[in-house]
Amino acid sequence: MYRTHTCGELSMQHVGTTVTMAGWVQTIRKFGSITFTDLRDRYGITQLYFNEMLNARLDKTPLGREFILQVKGKVVERSNKNPKLTTGDIEIEVTDFTIMNSAATPPFTIEDDTDGGDELRMKYRYLDLRRPVLRKNLELRYKVNRSVRNYLDTLGFWDIETPFLIKSTPEGARDFVVPSRMNQGQFYALPQSPQTFKQLLMVSGYDRYYQVVKCFRDEDLRADRQPEFTQIDCEMSFVEQEDILNTFEGLFKHVFKDVKGVDIKEEFPRMTFDDAMWNYGNDKPDIRFEMKISNVKALNKVYCDVLNSVDFKVFSDAETIVAISVPGASEYTRKQIDELVEWVKRPQIGMSGIVNVKCNADGTYKSSVDKFFTEEQLKSLAGFCNAKPGDLILILAGAETRTRKAMSELRLEMGNRLGLRNPDNYKPLWVIDFPLFEYDEEDDRWVARHHPFTSPKPEQIALMDDRSRYGEIKANAYDIVLNGTEIGGGSIRIFQRDLQEKMFAALGMDKEEANEKFGFLMGAFEYGAPPHGGIAFGFDRLCALLGGQETIRDFIAFPKNNAGRDVMLDAPSAIDDKQMTELNLQAKDA
Ligand code: AMO
Repeated sequence: MYRTHTCGELSMQHVGTTVTMAGWVQTIRKFGSITFTDLRDRYGITQLYFNEMLNARLDKTPLGREFILQVKGKVVERSNKNPKLTTGDIEIEVTDFTIMNSAATPPFTIEDDTDGGDELRMKYRYLDLRRPVLRKNLELRYKVNRSVRNYLDTLGFWDIETPFLIKSTPEGARDFVVPSRMNQGQFYALPQSPQTFKQLLMVSGYDRYYQVVKCFRDEDLRADRQPEFTQIDCEMSFVEQEDILNTFEGLFKHVFKDVKGVDIKEEFPRMTFDDAMWNYGNDKPDIRFEMKISNVKALNKVYCDVLNSVDFKVFSDAETIVAISVPGASEYTRKQIDELVEWVKRPQIGMSGIVNVKCNADGTYKSSVDKFFTEEQLKSLAGFCNAKPGDLILILAGAETRTRKAMSELRLEMGNRLGLRNPDNYKPLWVIDFPLFEYDEEDDRWVARHHPFTSPKPEQIALMDDRSRYGEIKANAYDIVLNGTEIGGGSIRIFQRDLQEKMFAALGMDKEEANEKFGFLMGAFEYGAPPHGGIAFGFDRLCALLGGQETIRDFIAFPKNNAGRDVMLDAPSAIDDKQMTELNLQAKDA
């Protein structure tokens, strides 16, 4: 038997027992003729004590970091206990040991606070995964997975697998493609999501489906994006939006309680897409803090009276003027404000400056544009922005889209600076009533905001006949947002052939193309398709947020780096000539 106990389970109640343990050598501390060693495995760390006699053996066959060691010994109470370790009350008095395998010196220290850089740790991911912090992340991921499955199982959802080698129908992101040997010159695509399959399963009558499933998207990477990621993908029949929101709000509450011990009693707030954009500048608002955006002047819809009477070009020339009131920041120094100005001037934000108004605690006002505004005008502006004494008003002016986006970022930055974005404070919400279409300026065409299977609000279907009104049509589509991250999105689907055809036509696909790409789905709609709808959650994102982080990479066992590479495997890579010939492929010289 390799072991009787793991490295994480022994405590005072085991004192006096003889045990056999095996694991990795974490540290070796030699004091004259005795040695202490920490033995580590997935379950924890246990201290080992080697007496003088064993020490003589150790001198001949020395231990090294990360060696695999098996020890036999007796559990004894420690004289100086370590309250930080669960096994910190005891140690093992080793009576015999076997070095089961030696180890090369690891290229970085296997500790939470490691000295290894990102690339190095990715290259030796199997060593990185030994670090407790990553082990905890993967344990959390497993627990979330189990919790999700348990909940969905009680509600009668079936886990049904769907294929990975499918047809290329890029929408949104690019497809990863796989050449076919048996059908030369033809390619499969890896699914961006199992969307059409889950709809077909509804047509087959399976009623409630889910899958914890890999999805593949060839898109630019960010902290919360990987080219292959995992969704908790769900679909239900005979449901309306309300049924979906309730079912999956229940899933969230269950997971929070089960995995984090957090009992969210209240219903998740629901915010329309328009309100989210208007008040927070984006469709995934972080509602852990208020600091709503005031639309001082936006596309000429909102006007603060003050502006009309002031001849200040930065404002009068601007398409949009937006402001936030930062609580308690009126005492910001010149230096702090200059820092913020530099922050918005960075190319990622792209603004030329900030106008600020300090609402002093004594009721007076001081602004960077005192030359143009009277105290009375500043007061009325402050009133418009809901600023209180002690607040600092930050104002951005410029072109509509850029300025709004910049303000949304500045709001989050101020939230960070003021410590208002505590990762343990979970504030989920639903964003609903998304637009059905969005205009793609680059390609000069309307595209589906969610995907082309999303149903318009029934009362707005008629507007689909008038291209000039596409922008007004809302969809039965919803996102779930947690702490400023979109962790899930879904919709009620189109389930009639004629409406689906109409949708493809609106997206600029002629009948032939629509049939070639999605004939299988529209055909299925002719054989008794029930009304249905669903949602998919970004499983990696959910795990990262539950683990208090925004970057998903360390919640995935073997992720890709920022360039989409697996640096451990060195993939992607060229394939050999024989494979190329079999696939009838030829690489173009770069
Ligand atoms: P959507 O494209 O919104 O919907 O994706 C659902 C959720 O998946 C997560 N996600 C990602 N996570 C990590 N890396 C990525 N590259 C990535 N892309 C998306 C997000 C997102 O909210 N078929 C529809 C769902 C439906 O309509 O039921 C779909 O895939 O958290």
